[in-house]
Amino acid sequence: MTLESPAAEAAPSTRRRASFTPLPVKEVRRLTADSVEVTFEVPEHLVDDFDYAPGQYVALRAQIDGHEVRRSYSICTEPVPGEIRIAVKRDLGGVFSTWANDQLKPGDVVDVMNPSGTFVSKMALTSMNRPEALAEDAVARNAGAQLVAFAAGSGITPIMAIARSVLSASPDTTFELVYANRSAADVMFAEELGDLKDRYPTRFVVHHVLSREQRLNPLLTGRIDAEKLTALLDQVLRTERTDEWFLCGPFELVQLVRDELASRDVPAEDVRFELFTTGRPDRPSGQQGRRVQDDASGPVRRIEFTLDGLTGNVESPAASGETVLNAALRQRSDVPFACAGGVCGTCRAQVVSGDFEMEENYALETDELERGFVLTCQTRPTSDLLVVNYDA
Ligand SMILES: Cc1cc2nc3c(=O)[nH]c(=O)nc-3n(C[C@H](O)[C@H](O)[C@H](O)COP(=O)(O)OP(=O)(O)OC[C@H]3O[C@@H](n4cnc5c(N)ncnc54)[C@H](O)[C@@H]3O)c2cc1C
Ligand code: FES
Repeated sequence: MTLESPAAEAAPSTRRRASFTPLPVKEVRRLTADSVEVTFEVPEHLVDDFDYAPGQYVALRAQIDGHEVRRSYSICTEPVPGEIRIAVKRDLGGVFSTWANDQLKPGDVVDVMNPSGTFVSKMALTSMNRPEALAEDAVARNAGAQLVAFAAGSGITPIMAIARSVLSASPDTTFELVYANRSAADVMFAEELGDLKDRYPTRFVVHHVLSREQRLNPLLTGRIDAEKLTALLDQVLRTERTDEWFLCGPFELVQLVRDELASRDVPAEDVRFELFTTGRPDRPSGQQGRRVQDDASGPVRRIEFTLDGLTGNVESPAASGETVLNAALRQRSDVPFACAGGVCGTCRAQVVSGDFEMEENYALETDELERGFVLTCQTRPTSDLLVVNYDA
């Protein structure tokens, strides 16, 4: 795979030490037959911990059928102090999304990690708990900005937060959205998107593309392939002077749009993207690192890791090809991770010494790679000793 992480500058607030806090569910609202919006209550003494920039996500942890399950979900609202809202779309056969859609109810308590992620606008990167700062900052910096987004399915979630924040904060910003779904019944936030159109008739436009339903405009019917994308960009969207692009959806769609924008000489730093999955279900199961095949006669790699000021050591058979995360989890259950697929960035640590190879990276920025940060869920030691620091 060739998708690289965006070259955007990571603002300091987009990365912080990850830790889980139990938060009560305030409301579960059905959005479509297959998706719910879940609101968590953030007590006043924790508002700073749950401060966020529109576009960021939270990792959740729950016990489901006796197993610990961790997944990440983007925050879907503009800044609202005292609450965190996410939306979960059912993934057929998926453990967490099925549980959230069928069983989660107000009063339940779920472990929620501090908001994280770099899928944020360079125009409105400011805090949730100081909406007045968002307004001041955005009005000045966003004057006349033109933003375009491509979302598919649940990929609308962070885009909702960004669109709502930017439109409400800045009086002359425009936001144009292409939103792909199978049918009208699958459109998440249909009402809220309608409200945005009513509230900002000249500044917000949404083009619904439905793959299994006929729309009047043939360009808005069927899957978005290279041909349709070209037509959308040339005939439907007003992209002449787009300041920032946001892409969130399946890998293939995000890749397609990024390639097309690159071929049109759109600077990479103006294109933000977020992946929800790489389509490879290979997560560590629960808090324990998966057992690895032991070969007593073979060479071992030693991994030394520091977390919360404490240093631990763990040995890993070289032949097992075990990741740093998996090995570290065998030693300590509080090693941070969420997706285990190289997309969320929760498991990041800085390499202090030693050699390694990192498989996938859809989460770390270029400057973080240059400073030696790795995704430990994707990193394997290739020297006898690898030393990493989760506290960096
Ligand atoms: C940064 C980030 C933000 C995200 N934001 C959102 C959001 O806002 N809204 C949202 O809905 N999702 C979001 N996601 C995706 C979310 O984290 C979950 O991946 C998603 O809900 C599926 O989780 P699950 O437990 O239901 O499915 P899983 O149990 O993880 O399964 C996923 C899929 O794989 C299949 N599968 C599982 N195991 C196997 C196997 N062994 N072999 C073959 N197939 C298998 C399942 O049938 C299912 O279709 C986000 C992800 C990231 C990384
Ligand atoms: S846990 Fe998500 S990138 Fe490693």
